[in-house]
Amino acid sequence: MSKLITNIKQLTQIRDKDISFISAKKMDELPSISDAYLLIENGVINDFGKMSEIPNFGNIETINAKDKIVLPAWCDSHSHSVHTGNRSDEYMQRIKGASYQQIAENGGGILKSSSQINAVSSDDLYTESKNRILSIIKQGTGSLEIKSGYGLNYESELKMLEVISRLKNSLPIEIKSTFLGAHAIPKNYKKDDYLKLVIDKMLPDFIDKKLVDFVDIFCEENYFSVDDTKLLCNKAYELGVASKIHTNQFNSIGGIKAGVEFGALSVDHLEVINQDDIQALKQSKTMPVLLPGCSFFLGIDYANARNLLNNGIPFAIASDFNPGSCPTGNMNFIISLACNKLKITSEQAINAATLNGAYAMGVSKKTGSISKGKLANLLITEKIDSIDDLPYYFGENLIEKVLIRGEEIN
Ligand code: NIG
Ligand code: FE
Repeated sequence: MSKLITNIKQLTQIRDKDISFISAKKMDELPSISDAYLLIENGVINDFGKMSEIPNFGNIETINAKDKIVLPAWCDSHSHSVHTGNRSDEYMQRIKGASYQQIAENGGGILKSSSQINAVSSDDLYTESKNRILSIIKQGTGSLEIKSGYGLNYESELKMLEVISRLKNSLPIEIKSTFLGAHAIPKNYKKDDYLKLVIDKMLPDFIDKKLVDFVDIFCEENYFSVDDTKLLCNKAYELGVASKIHTNQFNSIGGIKAGVEFGALSVDHLEVINQDDIQALKQSKTMPVLLPGCSFFLGIDYANARNLLNNGIPFAIASDFNPGSCPTGNMNFIISLACNKLKITSEQAINAATLNGAYAMGVSKKTGSISKGKLANLLITEKIDSIDDLPYYFGENLIEKVLIRGEEIN
């Protein structure tokens, strides 16, 4: 199957296929061709170039992208998009003054989502999650990492991971599965006993069942410690699985350093960061993943993206789509928020939400840039003046067409 896109006002984020992520120094650039064409063959980017040099491809299906920009689909490397129900009651409690931590201490928060997951059937969880994800694909998400972590017991963590596996098989986008059994301490458990269950039983079993691409832990005061994080990452490492760590959301307790030490693929959140954390990240291959939607919704600090860049540290941005701290997976909004609140340019935000996001979920060989041989996971914008219009019109969705493996999503 061949498809041609012609008259593209700007074909953007063109990179060598072998570049795995964009360094801090390069994040302000988006290599582009103006007045371009792009050829798709069997779902893959086959060729692109200037319209003035377009070969004769014969009579093939053509999309005219005059006055429109074409770029890679969003790579959302951190989500909890498999969940059920919502926590809008807690949202109102927070508006009235309760903190996220206070709500959690009173049995709400992650534990509330956990009781909802325990009560739902696997089929219902699958259908609800699939519909939720279909709607974010239409908004431009072409790759999505999804975490377990609301089960908090063997059966329900398994249920979540099996649902993620069914979603991988039924949706056209790239999906990676992260086992986040160590997300919170379930009721009636001592932390160490629960962690032992996660490390000694759940992790190896779920890896055996081929349900785990990555492992994750919430490294935070009142949740899991740095030592817990090291134990889990070490076991995952022995079993050949890379880690992605929730850390530095409310306190800096050393999760970043532990992640870097164990070669974590990413360290995520980073709203609170100190000089030791910066030192650990310098020269590491661990990608910081910033989640501005969570700061927006919880009213907590935004990650200091400029500090990372000034220290030569790149980053990705992701949605954190979940019922407690960010009930949206709309990456267009996340990009607007990133520009506005992290004080970054459109180019930096788009690099963070495409190739660096792809790296943070292990799919940068397949997607995240316009490169020959990568998947034709593409966004065609509406008629816009420049790439800056995307974050500028916050709350709008200026993506007119989403192509996943070359097929238009309707
Ligand atoms: O990334 N911080 C930990 N976990 C999620 C929130 C989970 C929840 O509140 O349901 C996060 O923000
Ligand atoms: Fe999260």
